[in-house]
Amino acid sequence: MANTEKRGGFGGKVAAILAAAGSAIGLGNIWRFPYITSENGGGAFILIYLVCILFLGLPLLIAEFSVGHNTKKNPIDAFATIKKGWGWLGAMGLISVTLIMGYYFVISGWTLNYTIASAANSIGGDFGAFFTDFTTATWKPLIYTYLFIIANHAIITSGVQGGIEKASKIMMPVLFVILISLAVYSLWLPDGREALVNVFTPDFSKVTGKTFLDAMGQAFFTLSIGMGAMLIYGSYFKDGTKIAGTAISVVSLDTLVALMAAVIIFSAGVENESGMQLAFVAMPKVFSAMPFGNLWAALFFLLLGLAALSSTISMHEAVTSYFVEKRGMSRKHGARLVTLFALILATVASLSLGDWSEYTVAGMNFFALLDNFTAIVMLPLLGILTAVFVGWVWKKQDMKAELTAEGGVDKATYPAIRFLLRYVCPVLVSVVFVFGIASFIKSLNTPAEVETVEAETPEVTLHIMGGSEREDIDIENIERVKLTVVETNNN
Ligand code: PFF
Repeated sequence: MANTEKRGGFGGKVAAILAAAGSAIGLGNIWRFPYITSENGGGAFILIYLVCILFLGLPLLIAEFSVGHNTKKNPIDAFATIKKGWGWLGAMGLISVTLIMGYYFVISGWTLNYTIASAANSIGGDFGAFFTDFTTATWKPLIYTYLFIIANHAIITSGVQGGIEKASKIMMPVLFVILISLAVYSLWLPDGREALVNVFTPDFSKVTGKTFLDAMGQAFFTLSIGMGAMLIYGSYFKDGTKIAGTAISVVSLDTLVALMAAVIIFSAGVENESGMQLAFVAMPKVFSAMPFGNLWAALFFLLLGLAALSSTISMHEAVTSYFVEKRGMSRKHGARLVTLFALILATVASLSLGDWSEYTVAGMNFFALLDNFTAIVMLPLLGILTAVFVGWVWKKQDMKAELTAEGGVDKATYPAIRFLLRYVCPVLVSVVFVFGIASFIKSLNTPAEVETVEAETPEVTLHIMGGSEREDIDIENIERVKLTVVETNNN
């Protein structure tokens, strides 16, 4: 059954940039980048990350846009049109992006609760307890996640121009205004500039093999590489939209936002916090000490929520386009099916942090499994395969024509992009991938490092975050814990 609905598209160049930047800029920039940076030695990590963005991320983004723009098809048909028998590569991307949606929607839901709770000033004094109580509860996080998924669904069913483009044109400017206000504000904070210098000063002693994997994984994740999201947006670019220029704008905006998010978070002096807590526990705590701090915190979580929404619509759209174009469904029906998948996966992911946390695979709950499997296995793999496809499988003349004629790559730059895609990306990503997997497996088998300190503590509440990754800790039998004193008060 053929679908008779007209294929959608973006109205112009600005819309193309805003939508694609919306996909790129997300939780990856504001929630993930700062904590991965602080875990990996700050400035040293940022340098490696920037190299990955420039030499791996940018050419791959150009490649993905080109495949979409050249074929004007959904991810599966796009690869199969260029080379028969390669539709599976699109399918792999769509499966991965569906898995990502599973946990991404849960965190997106948290941003809603945090925006409301901050505005209402109802978080209370114990930020760690609020986070743990909320995220491990049964219904509350689910309800917020469902609300977020419904908002996402409403945008997708409104169409490419009426939904995605319109939403991006409203959300992205708001996002930038909030981001800039927060950055300016955070630089006024006492010790803000000093904290920043500390974080951005490279500490190469913290660089290990895993640092490279983290940097590369982060570069791919933040640019939405290999998942079909950028491919489908490329397929909606109006004729005459320059692919290389759009990709450079997207990469620049994305990097700027990640760095600004790091500035905001680190100038608050919270570099000692790590993992998921960085944004959700440390930020409200820092803001709480400021005049009108709860409103600034609400603004911060609104920023996180908007960024998440503009990313989730691109994930949803990639999969919806498959059901519409390949399965002949109406947009409404296709979107409903994707929303249903998202609801089911997100429900299991959310419950896996609380009620179902005892069900684990290799020590990981379902939430961590979705995150780690997609970030460590699927993202690099899709990066390698996309580079191989565009660099080796796509007919040389056709690829060159797409890039240089329509794509806006000048004849002098073209060989460099081709070289990066043919040799640098596949080789480098493969090496980092193999070492990264090996060090990840090793980390699963190595017990956590425990330092002991003798201290007299009247009462300590211990919040163990990311419990799934710490299956080596036997909570019942903890005798001593290491306390890092981050702040002291004078009495
Ligand atoms: N790039 C988004 C972020 O940084 O949060 C995440 C993302 C969006 C990944 C779209 C994959 C995707 F298809």
